[in-house]
Amino acid sequence: MKITSSKFVISNTDYLKCPEDGRPEFAFIGRSNVGKSSLINTLTDRKSLAKTSSTPGKTQLINHFLINDVWYLVDLPGYGWAKVSKAFKEKWEIMTKEYLRKREKLTCVFVLIDIRLSPQANDLAFINWLGEAGIPFSIIFTKADKLSKLKVEASMSTYLDTLRETWEELPPTFCTSSVTQRGKDEVLKYIQNIIDNTVK
Ligand code: GTP
Ligand code: MG
Repeated sequence: MKITSSKFVISNTDYLKCPEDGRPEFAFIGRSNVGKSSLINTLTDRKSLAKTSSTPGKTQLINHFLINDVWYLVDLPGYGWAKVSKAFKEKWEIMTKEYLRKREKLTCVFVLIDIRLSPQANDLAFINWLGEAGIPFSIIFTKADKLSKLKVEASMSTYLDTLRETWEELPPTFCTSSVTQRGKDEVLKYIQNIIDNTVK
């Protein structure tokens, strides 16, 4: 897929106020600072469609971007940000989980994982929650440019081994970098395939 148009549509705290025009949605989520907004800019070939920051917690709302007039790309706030208040954590949990559970047009959730980290409890808990809730998801490893080729392979295989302890079938996985654009074409092709096969 080539992205020829991408525009910001709306930010929300309430899934009920998200666009209601029936277009399929692909959401991006993961720990704060994992690189969600950067990946969205890479996928759309835009420098600052989604706001990025070296300070965790930049994205705090459900953000809808309309892509090629066909589908929505949704940037969700990150989790696992140590400095955030308990009240914000609770708000995040309700807002995001309601969105994920109740959005009928949510077609796939991409869970982003920093390739440099060993499997983290909060990522695994979130992945398990998605699985138990029956929400289709894929995994995108980010920041692959920060490790050598061998370490990237080793880190991915450690992660998948950890998932195998709980899950018989593994989700699709992608390895990306917003610096080198690695994985961009694969992710876009995957989205295109889903749209071609499921959306009439
Ligand atoms: P929140 O909105 O705060 O949850 O963060 P986010 O997940 O949207 O992360 P964001 O895209 O803002 O990136 C966080 C930091 O990581 C920024 O300083 C980015 O420049 C950096 N970063 C993101 N992706 C990559 C990548 O692929 N490679 C490298 N080297 N740095 C990256
Ligand atoms: Mg962000």
